[in-house]
Amino acid sequence: MLNRLEQQAPDALLALIKLFKADDRPDKIDLGVGVYKTADGDTPVFASIKGAERRLVAEQPSKSYLGPEGDMGFVNALIPHVFGDAAPGGGRLNGMQTPGGTGAVRLSLALAKRAGVTRVLMGTPSWPNHAQILSDLKLEMVGFGHANADGSANMDALRAAIAGASDSDAVLLHGCCHNPTGVDYSHDEWDEIAGLLAASPILPVIDLAYQGLGDGLDEDAYGLRAVMRQVEEVLVAYSCDKNFGLYRDRVGAFYVATGDGEATARAISNAAALARANWSMPPDHGGAAVRMVLEDEALTKQWLDELADMRSRIGQVRAKLAASGYAGSVNLEPLGRQRGMFAMLPVSKDQVQQMRADHAVYMAGSGRINVAGLTMDNIDKFIAALAEVTS
Ligand code: LMR
Repeated sequence: MLNRLEQQAPDALLALIKLFKADDRPDKIDLGVGVYKTADGDTPVFASIKGAERRLVAEQPSKSYLGPEGDMGFVNALIPHVFGDAAPGGGRLNGMQTPGGTGAVRLSLALAKRAGVTRVLMGTPSWPNHAQILSDLKLEMVGFGHANADGSANMDALRAAIAGASDSDAVLLHGCCHNPTGVDYSHDEWDEIAGLLAASPILPVIDLAYQGLGDGLDEDAYGLRAVMRQVEEVLVAYSCDKNFGLYRDRVGAFYVATGDGEATARAISNAAALARANWSMPPDHGGAAVRMVLEDEALTKQWLDELADMRSRIGQVRAKLAASGYAGSVNLEPLGRQRGMFAMLPVSKDQVQQMRADHAVYMAGSGRINVAGLTMDNIDKFIAALAEVTS
């Protein structure tokens, strides 16, 4: 029977991890998968997380089951950081722990489907796994252009998409640090989006996977909070994989807001049933470590400092790229106005291949680069390689 299965290509983004590892050129540059690197090119465990993990090992009384919602101490400790004063009261907001941001996206969309959503509007390009999850859930994806050629967000496309939507549609929005383009909505644009969503029957699903890597924790949550203030029903997929550096520990959270506590409780009961059927309950360790960071003032401060360092290094790399202007035919100037780890370069698949073969620069086939893979030591080599390949 299993012989009927067709061969699938490996996930193109994750395949880059192995290809990069296998390359023995000493000056290779990894701009592939979205992992933050320090100025030395390392991805160390956060000191705040190490501190929490030490305490966790010493103090954790049991590893017995917690239930499909996971560690609710973790879920609730995140709420003030994510929602600020836009968190709806009266039991209208509740959440669950998920296996990473991917688990949270999956749960949000599966719940939307249970609630009658059949189509999901999504700016393109997007994180490739969004489309894969939609396809696996048999939800129709309706794409609209996310970014203009000048590196700004395409508001007209979003306005038109929302205007044409019905009450069986959801819209999937990136809260900040858009993956893959780095093109975020401005605060004014978010205010307008919140108003448009409030006046439409569409269900917003906000994927917030990079909070704190753009302009700051509060600044990066501006859009989410603007929507929460105006729209009653919102689903949120949150990831701690990047802003706590917990990638392989898979630490995420799903939140749902509705018009009243009773509807939220019903939504959560459905999410719990979906979680049980998918992964039963989320892995505990990383979420427990985040909870311990957030429950301890000194560890929280250490985490915020570590996050600020990441943000400032990403900003420095972006500024240096932007200041270099054109590399061959590629204008790097807009990268200075974009946010987060990612930027899309207008290069062909052949040019991406050439960057890898001739210059040991690894980037996604789409032309996306992870700017956090660049350091002051390798950035000139990258710019020179890009200039040569695109001239
Ligand atoms: C990325 O886009 O590189 C990250 O979100 C990692 C992933 O899981 O794809």
